[in-house]
Amino acid sequence: MKAIVYTKYGSPDVLQLKEVDKPTPKENEVLIKVVASSVNEWDNGLISGKGLLTRLLGGLFKPKNKILGADVAGVIEAVGANIKKFKSGDEVFGDIAGAGFGAFAEYVCAPEKMLAKKSQKMSFEQAAALPQAGLLALQGLRYKKPLKAGQHLLINGAGGGVGPIALQYAKSIGATVTCVDREEKFEMLHSLGADELIDYSKTDYTKTGNQYDYILDVTACRSVGDYKRALKPDGVFVMIGGSMGWLIVQMMLIQPLLFKFSNKKLGIMGYRVNTEGLNELSSLFEEGKVSPVIDKSFPLAETANAFRYYEKGTFTGKIVIAINSNAGK
Ligand SMILES: NC(=O)c1ccc[n+]([C@@H]2O[C@H](COP(=O)([O-])OP(=O)(O)OC[C@H]3O[C@@H](n4cnc5c(N)ncnc54)[C@H](OP(=O)(O)O)[C@@H]3O)[C@@H](O)[C@H]2O)c1
Repeated sequence: MKAIVYTKYGSPDVLQLKEVDKPTPKENEVLIKVVASSVNEWDNGLISGKGLLTRLLGGLFKPKNKILGADVAGVIEAVGANIKKFKSGDEVFGDIAGAGFGAFAEYVCAPEKMLAKKSQKMSFEQAAALPQAGLLALQGLRYKKPLKAGQHLLINGAGGGVGPIALQYAKSIGATVTCVDREEKFEMLHSLGADELIDYSKTDYTKTGNQYDYILDVTACRSVGDYKRALKPDGVFVMIGGSMGWLIVQMMLIQPLLFKFSNKKLGIMGYRVNTEGLNELSSLFEEGKVSPVIDKSFPLAETANAFRYYEKGTFTGKIVIAINSNAGK
């Protein structure tokens, strides 16, 4: 089978299209003929190998997972002996980062607990753009205490994968939403119902004097003091991504003191991949409440170009990798 393989960290140049052996499903796994996958920041981080946390997760000196790709949408070709939920021919989608990635290939094996049946109303490209970003968005808005109708949410880094899903979901439950990103992404965010738009190259949202009930930060890089200042008295700050190390240190050393006499909450959310979460994304999609924003689609052989386009930073929403497109017809 064809797959995008890499054996050393570096720029997208390290991604090579290779012929490799087709995997065989273990007892609790299914074999998926991959129709589409998508680009995630986590994949991009694992290509470059930048940062201690990335190396600890991905391999200290060289990548431990030779084939990346967390999001997967495709058709089941074979099932392991203990599989209960799926059968050959089922159309599925999911996030297999926790099972060693591998979706940038014509076939991949994955545990059934990381998959769900794909909605017939969803294209395979939409199904490939939704899992990781969608689960991060929904779980991020239910951290410690869920976002409620009438509350004011700020999404920092709103123009990529997670932001548009969080924005649509928040609007669907009746929240007011401020989105922070580049001006180039404002048209997309406005079309999805953003109530206020802030350009991060011009304005630091923690220094405007405005306060929010809920802050979802996809690319956090400030101090816990900054975040505390931007929260209303009972506000919640959730870090999804960004400079984890620095915030973890502050949360251990500074936050206990700074938030001692405050109802404000601050934390880092670690997401979970499960069939229930994926099924909820399908229902929200079928109800017309959330839909992934797809910027561009690249064929498997051009996956390196997809990451070069991602790194340029002008993308809006998700970048999809189209693989066995015929299998989806
Ligand atoms: N917590 C967990 O369990 C977990 C699990 C998996 C992944 N993650 C993390 O979750 C995040 C996923 O987010 P995503 O898919 O939405 O990422 P994404 O697609 O890369 O989007 C990030 C957006 O933030 C914008 N941005 C960059 N720097 C910014 C700044 N300083 N201020 C405001 N906006 C800025 C980017 O714009 P530009 O175009 O300017 O770059 C982009 O529009 C990643 O950080 C990933 O590592 C977390």
